[in-house]
Amino acid sequence: MARKPDNTSTFESTRRRKKRSPAEVFSPEDRARYEAMRSEIDEGPIDDGPPEGDRWSIWDESEPLQRGPEPWPEWVITDLGAVDHELGVLKTGKEADVFLIERAVPGTDRAVILASKRYRSAEHTQFNRAGDYVAGRGTKRSRDARALAKRTTFGLDQAAMRWASAEFDALKRLHVAGVPVPYPVQILGREVIMEFIGDDRTAAPRLSEIRPDEAELESLWDQAAEALRLMTEQGFAHGDLSSYNTVVHEGRLIVLDLPQVVDIYANPMGLDFLSRDVENLGNWFTARGLDRLEVDELQAELMNMVVRA
Ligand SMILES: Nc1ncnc2c1ncn2[C@@H]1O[C@H](COP(=O)(O)OP(=O)(O)OP(=O)(O)O)[C@@H](O)[C@H]1O
Ligand SMILES: [Mg+2]
Repeated sequence: MARKPDNTSTFESTRRRKKRSPAEVFSPEDRARYEAMRSEIDEGPIDDGPPEGDRWSIWDESEPLQRGPEPWPEWVITDLGAVDHELGVLKTGKEADVFLIERAVPGTDRAVILASKRYRSAEHTQFNRAGDYVAGRGTKRSRDARALAKRTTFGLDQAAMRWASAEFDALKRLHVAGVPVPYPVQILGREVIMEFIGDDRTAAPRLSEIRPDEAELESLWDQAAEALRLMTEQGFAHGDLSSYNTVVHEGRLIVLDLPQVVDIYANPMGLDFLSRDVENLGNWFTARGLDRLEVDELQAELMNMVVRA
């Protein structure tokens, strides 16, 4: 026989408890503490930046694959308490600006100068008006402001982020293969942070800016040829190689500016890009006395490598 449950009163009391307003659940002291906490969050400063420097180091914001290949060089600063100081613009360009930054650990003498290449987003499209609008809207909570800013610039940044990511991936792969490129430290959104090539805060001169003697010219050409061999071995053409995208530091030639790298095998124009790279760089060398034959021989050698691969 079904028994009428004798726990009716328990159900009723539960239901009643559910209907209680927070005022009954929290003691007046709890409520006061809670209100105080909320107003602290709401009225806290929007600027939650570091006590010194221009921002907290963004090192820990990058995922493992967005950081440089391991082992990390000893100069890479991974401390959570590190800050980034912006020292100035190295060069502004159409697609990107290169900044000089110093990443330092406050209270210590540990600091490193880095190059930060920031690809520009589609700043001047009509869609950005939404971003401008939201930027002016008062919001007290910096977390909310950041979320809004992220959402509205998300679409606009896509192209810039793809360029940044293409450059970072190329830097990583070529660095591992031994091609003389700046060590890629990290990528975050459309910002690529890499080793700064230079002395103290002075950037190394571009190849186009130096006047090498005969021996230096020969040495730099040998290095350029070796870099091209290694890149070809990896299946890459630089895509924009020239005396403007190479710098010389302590007698070493370093290749920069890689967002447009070309997959020699996947791209139908792959061989043309490779040949144009050799030609562009080679012309600078022959104009300064290098035997033209050396350039032609390198062209032939690289073409052979590709055809036989
Ligand atoms: N890691 C670095 N270390 C030192 N100097 C650098 C570094 N990266 C870039 N530079 C300097 O900034 C200049 C521009 O860099 P890069 O070529 O990568 O950018 P870009 O926007 O493509 O410029 P451009 O359109 O003029 O080719 C370089 O020619 C070089 O002088
Ligand atoms: Mg360039």
